[in-house]
Amino acid sequence: MTKKNKIAVIGGTGLTSLQNLEIVRNETVTTPYGNPSSPLAFGNISSTKKNKSAQTLETVFIARHGYAHNIPPHRVNYRANMWALKEAGVTAILAVNAVGGIREDMIPGSLVVPDQIIDYTSRRINTFFEDNLKNVTHIDFSYPYSREISQLILDSAQAVNIDIIKGGTYAATEGPRLETAAEIQRLKRDGCDLVGMTGMPEAALARELELDYASICVNANWAAGLSDELITMEVIEQNLEGGMEKTRQLIEDILSQYYK
Ligand code: HPA
Repeated sequence: MTKKNKIAVIGGTGLTSLQNLEIVRNETVTTPYGNPSSPLAFGNISSTKKNKSAQTLETVFIARHGYAHNIPPHRVNYRANMWALKEAGVTAILAVNAVGGIREDMIPGSLVVPDQIIDYTSRRINTFFEDNLKNVTHIDFSYPYSREISQLILDSAQAVNIDIIKGGTYAATEGPRLETAAEIQRLKRDGCDLVGMTGMPEAALARELELDYASICVNANWAAGLSDELITMEVIEQNLEGGMEKTRQLIEDILSQYYK
């Protein structure tokens, strides 16, 4: 791939910064849709891989829940975030999403590249195409994630020896409360493998702006009713730690593949 594109990382719960990102500038931007969740951090990721000459890899980082992690999933201004990234010249997005595992192999701490979504959100502004339209517009969303970027994630995971699950249906719930056990059983019957609160409308808005979008999901807990453990923020944060460390390594490799 040539360096014609700029890739952004949207960090979720457990990833409010990239430790190996050397920030060149922070830009506080505004958009016709309001303010993004955080300033955009422009910078370089230094790649320190063995057998490779040191590279600097340009990227843009945004913290979906704000740097203070105080914007809940249903209050994220998804439109402003996506618009700001598009305006910054971004063409592809790696989204990091914390999720609960439903399918048996989605154990806490594991990583997943989802390939489908079912949207159960109900109160979010989910489109750019609503007012002052020349024509009614419907985007094709049959395959909600970029296959190219998803493949890049999978290839990188293999290259750096990180286990990652290929494919899975992401259930996007409204939150901010977690689900009931019966709701999880219903999601399971619907064919969902993992559940989170931030996958939508982000993926659809990316498609509306013609951004190549893919997700790395990090399993934080067994979804409601699937284990005896209470799902507390402490449990979520603890389980995310290992998964996010792997995600950081993975992002470094993905960027070096993307820009090579
Ligand atoms: N449900 C919804 N969102 C989540 C969960 C969950 O169990 N864990 C982390 N984000």
